[in-house]
Amino acid sequence: MNTPIEGFSKLTKEEKIAWIAKSYTTNSNETIAILKRYWNTDETLQKLHDEFIENTITNYYLPLGIAPNFLINDTLYAIPMAIEESSVVAAASKAAKFWLKRGGFKTTVINTEKVGQVHFMYTGAFEKLESFFNLIAPKLKKDAKDITKNMEKRGGGISAITLRNKTADLENYYQLHCTFETLDAMGANFINSCLEQFAETLKNEFAKSPEFKEHEEQLEIVMSILSNYVPNCLVRAEVSCPIDQLNEDKNSTAQDFAEKIVRAVQIAKVEPYRAVTHNKGIMNGIDAVVLATGNDFRAIEAGIHAYAAKDGSYSSLTNASIENGIFKFWIEIPLALGTVGGLTGLHPLVKLALEILQNPSAKDLMQIVAVAGLAQNFAAVRSLVTTGIQQGHMKMHLMNILNQLGASEGDKKTLVHHFKHNTVTHSAVIAAYNSLQEKE
Ligand code: MEV
Repeated sequence: MNTPIEGFSKLTKEEKIAWIAKSYTTNSNETIAILKRYWNTDETLQKLHDEFIENTITNYYLPLGIAPNFLINDTLYAIPMAIEESSVVAAASKAAKFWLKRGGFKTTVINTEKVGQVHFMYTGAFEKLESFFNLIAPKLKKDAKDITKNMEKRGGGISAITLRNKTADLENYYQLHCTFETLDAMGANFINSCLEQFAETLKNEFAKSPEFKEHEEQLEIVMSILSNYVPNCLVRAEVSCPIDQLNEDKNSTAQDFAEKIVRAVQIAKVEPYRAVTHNKGIMNGIDAVVLATGNDFRAIEAGIHAYAAKDGSYSSLTNASIENGIFKFWIEIPLALGTVGGLTGLHPLVKLALEILQNPSAKDLMQIVAVAGLAQNFAAVRSLVTTGIQQGHMKMHLMNILNQLGASEGDKKTLVHHFKHNTVTHSAVIAAYNSLQEKE
């Protein structure tokens, strides 16, 4: 039975490893060896990683792949993707190549508004709070000047602060609903600092106000925090072509193929069970680029899934249509991304990923990420309505199975060749591997 530990964070890295190995694993020496194998030999680099979080014991690798040939608004990109799922980069590359021959991706940033809220409780008449708010609104901005001046110099800052009466949802609940322009920064620290200052000013001005002194009203700040729901930080990405150019699938006509895709998207529009998986496929592309570029994929995930449910039922993020002989496939998603601040200037691979993407602005990156999501969805739906998903998936998974079996490089080569013409299933790979061993 393990016992709790006091002061774990104060132990050295070696001590932490020794403790975790002894307390929670069966073979301490092996645990220590595995953890240390992932340490970087460059001590400066290792220290940088150690200091990203608390209690670091080693590094956790994900492959960083490249999906080339993405033509976005007539510029060619090679997109870095950090992901463990074997088929994702291959699928993105395939979709990029498909649309490269058909005019590429067209994208537009619709808006870049970020959101934060001060949540508070107030007992009293709304009208009174409203006139108090109108009185202090300029001071809310003025008191935050130290925080906002640099952002303002660059053209960003606080866009609006509004008082929202939420008492219909929760007794005595009000908000300062605030919007921001944070330019190339994701802006979490900027927004949260502004909000905490707004809360301070609100509390102090309320305490000082003669209007409220004589009465019974009370105001209590509950919390001040940015929102990862950013429905007005929106980007759109689209591909389109005349239907007769969709002639890649040997088993159906171009018209048939286009109709099948539209139908698959319609199903994901109305059926949440399908929509979740459909959107998961989109997130395969989005998360991989978000991660490679050092952005917060949890924030992006939360915001996008909330957006997918904005009409009251969880639905597809992509759309497809056939009009006047033109097939169109598009996505509209909220993406609050940064290309400065956070890990972007700190993590060498993130810096490199941004360089590969031609050092994009946050707006450029929104467009690239939306394209990665759209491409991924196109690739998935295309496979689903034609060959089925397993053919491509298992081909890519083949190497994982062979590695699990401990196949030699020579065996891998032979078996990859063998499965070019045979269906990959887990048992088929084992059988083929065993029969190869018997022959050797
Ligand atoms: C697998 O990671 C993603 C898919 O399931 C997406 C989809 O079904 O659209 C293939």
